[in-house]
Amino acid sequence: MKSDQFSSRLGVVLAAAGGAVGLGNIWKFPYMLGQNGGGAFLLVYVLCVVLFGMPLMMMEFMIGKRSGKSVFGAFSALSGSHRWDWLPCLTFLSTVIITGFYCVVTGWCLEYLYFSVVGELQGLTVETVGQLFGSFIQTGWQPLVCSGIAVVLSVSILWAGVGPGIERLSKILMPMLLILLLILIVRVTMLEGAFRGVAFLFASDLSKITSQTILDALGQCFYSLSIAMGALITYGAYMPKNQNVASTTMQIVVLDTLVALLAGCAIFPAVFAFGFSPTEGPKLVFSVLPLVFGQMAGGQVMAIIFFALLSIAAITSAVSLIEMQTAFVLDASVAWRARRAKRNSEASPRTLTRQGAIVVASLATLSVSVVCACSMVDNIDWLRIGGITLFDWADRITSNYTLPLIALFMVIFFGWFVSKETIEAEMRLYHGLKPWFTTLFRFLLRWFIPVIIVLIFLNGIGLFSL
Ligand code: TRP
Repeated sequence: MKSDQFSSRLGVVLAAAGGAVGLGNIWKFPYMLGQNGGGAFLLVYVLCVVLFGMPLMMMEFMIGKRSGKSVFGAFSALSGSHRWDWLPCLTFLSTVIITGFYCVVTGWCLEYLYFSVVGELQGLTVETVGQLFGSFIQTGWQPLVCSGIAVVLSVSILWAGVGPGIERLSKILMPMLLILLLILIVRVTMLEGAFRGVAFLFASDLSKITSQTILDALGQCFYSLSIAMGALITYGAYMPKNQNVASTTMQIVVLDTLVALLAGCAIFPAVFAFGFSPTEGPKLVFSVLPLVFGQMAGGQVMAIIFFALLSIAAITSAVSLIEMQTAFVLDASVAWRARRAKRNSEASPRTLTRQGAIVVASLATLSVSVVCACSMVDNIDWLRIGGITLFDWADRITSNYTLPLIALFMVIFFGWFVSKETIEAEMRLYHGLKPWFTTLFRFLLRWFIPVIIVLIFLNGIGLFSL
């Protein structure tokens, strides 16, 4: 299958960065940091990004670029056998769960956009802002409808084929989101008691680092950089052959980390100034920001713009995620039917259409979304396991388990089953790259990353103690 190439190099950077920057940076990063002791988490996170995030992102781009295939065909194309076909299947399952709960949070953004338009966010106090979120989440039908709208909206964008248009639009809108974050930062630092938030964010108390902190930071790093979901492999397949993967990776990683940091700077000063607990979890951003907007001149308009931009960022990510699944379903159905036809010596097998694949992908996403949204409703106890909602489980299982595991298998695949010459041939395309860089890159992929992921993993499940 020949893949179209991106018209410009910047196009690849922006598309991948557009996918990378999303709810992971603005919603998830602050609450993970809050739950894991502040500055200590930041330190571990940055280390994870440098030691794991960058090499893994480069690796995925290379898998895509060298094979010219999206996630389903890439492994067999590079290794020349079908022995690795289970890995894209595992990636697909994990991505379906991620997309499902991603759409639930996208629904929250849409609801908060609605709240800000109708003025519901005005005049809130520290008590009522929590009640607003709580009653919204626990009513059942509201978050259900909102996540349904998020799925339907994303699928319609995909169906109509206007994804590239939206992507282009979001390239104009994303810088606006950054500017808005900067304005928020200026405003929150003026709040009384804001300094404690800044200290919480940046002062690393190393004694707060536990095995959970490390596992969470690793998972967050994968989630935020879209690693281990096949997305980067697909972007890689679209890259021009002479694109320098190392510098592209660097730009995306810096941008993604910067946005997460800006979100932290906008939120934590306000968390402390208003007397919230930083450990509030997924509702942190939705509790704190309305109060900040309430204190600003033109706060309602700002809130509308902010939640509109956040919703757009979330929807563009949801579209890419569902697109990824659609491509998987399509490629898998073509491959499986061709294999069956060969076995039965049939002529031309009928395969799924793109529309059919979109339906399969969106139904999978929608079912996960519905289960996740319902599990947060107050009186539906059977959707909780051990007192924890299936929404939280979906988040935890993917970030802490499936993403590190898939990354581990991918790195074993690339480090040990793809020839050294393939990596060197790729590296030779990047003029000016020193030979030690290739050696370091291979060492990280063959030894350092697999060993450390296994240790972090065993440590996280209590089989080994660091
Ligand atoms: N990284 C995105 C975020 O921070 C979420 C995401 C994960 C994503 N995988 C993706 C977005 C694939 C687009 C494509 O929100």
